[in-house]
Amino acid sequence: MTRTARFLPGKTLPDALGAAMKRINAYGVIYPDGYHQVLVEKYSHGGVRYPHILMIIGEPRIHRHFFYPHVIGKAGRLLDYGCGTADNVRQLIRDGFPREQITAFDINRESIDLGIDLYRDREQMEDLFVVSEKFPFGIEEFDIVYSASVIHVIADETEFNNYLANAHSALRPGGVLFGSTLGLVDGVVRSPGNRGPPRLMTKKQLADSLAGTEFSRPDIVTRGGVPEYVPHHENICVFEFYTKKQTL
Ligand SMILES: C[S@@+](CC[C@H](N)C(=O)[O-])C[C@H]1O[C@@H](n2cnc3c(N)ncnc32)[C@H](O)[C@@H]1O
Repeated sequence: MTRTARFLPGKTLPDALGAAMKRINAYGVIYPDGYHQVLVEKYSHGGVRYPHILMIIGEPRIHRHFFYPHVIGKAGRLLDYGCGTADNVRQLIRDGFPREQITAFDINRESIDLGIDLYRDREQMEDLFVVSEKFPFGIEEFDIVYSASVIHVIADETEFNNYLANAHSALRPGGVLFGSTLGLVDGVVRSPGNRGPPRLMTKKQLADSLAGTEFSRPDIVTRGGVPEYVPHHENICVFEFYTKKQTL
């Protein structure tokens, strides 16, 4: 069974690719005849690791984050930690963030290639990407770390702790971590065995995890609008967070 089996009933790979191409075409990307079929064949064989990513590509969210206006005004070296298709990196570049200051990192290439196939921009984007199973950056290399929809996919506790610790060590003192993750609506208790994103924290758990990694007490804003295809979406919200690496 391929990983495309993870598409929900009623959602197929060809439909999802077609819809993604339509959204991305709105940015001016032109597709040659037969391109949809080429992609369907390619991804029918290889699968799509995160079908959810394909459902949202072409609708970046970074510019709706409450801290985004400060990022654009701030500049500095920025790491997109768990960049996936790099939809958000393309939005940063469109909004004038200096591309030479951006690094887009992921532990695997699959979603990066999906983004490049859909945006058809390998030449313009390739040098921004770093892919490695191990976190490859040194201490204090970045001024800003962005984390979008990564925390909720990390099931393993050690990997989660390492993820936050890496973000912390890669930032200079006073540097900013901002991003978003799916979480639990206030008052909801997650029952064991629930389908859906593997790590759904309450607002307090997220705040404690960030503070426990020696980030400053975070600002966390709750947003709705979790798509219906996310299982138990009525119990789930989006947390946008912003915190800083404390200075000594
Ligand atoms: C749901 S996708 C989100 C991608 C992108 N940030 C976005 O908002 O569209 C989650 C991404 O996190 C990456 N990821 C998961 N665990 C990671 C880790 N420990 N370090 C870096 N990236 C990770 C996955 O490979 C995947 O590309």
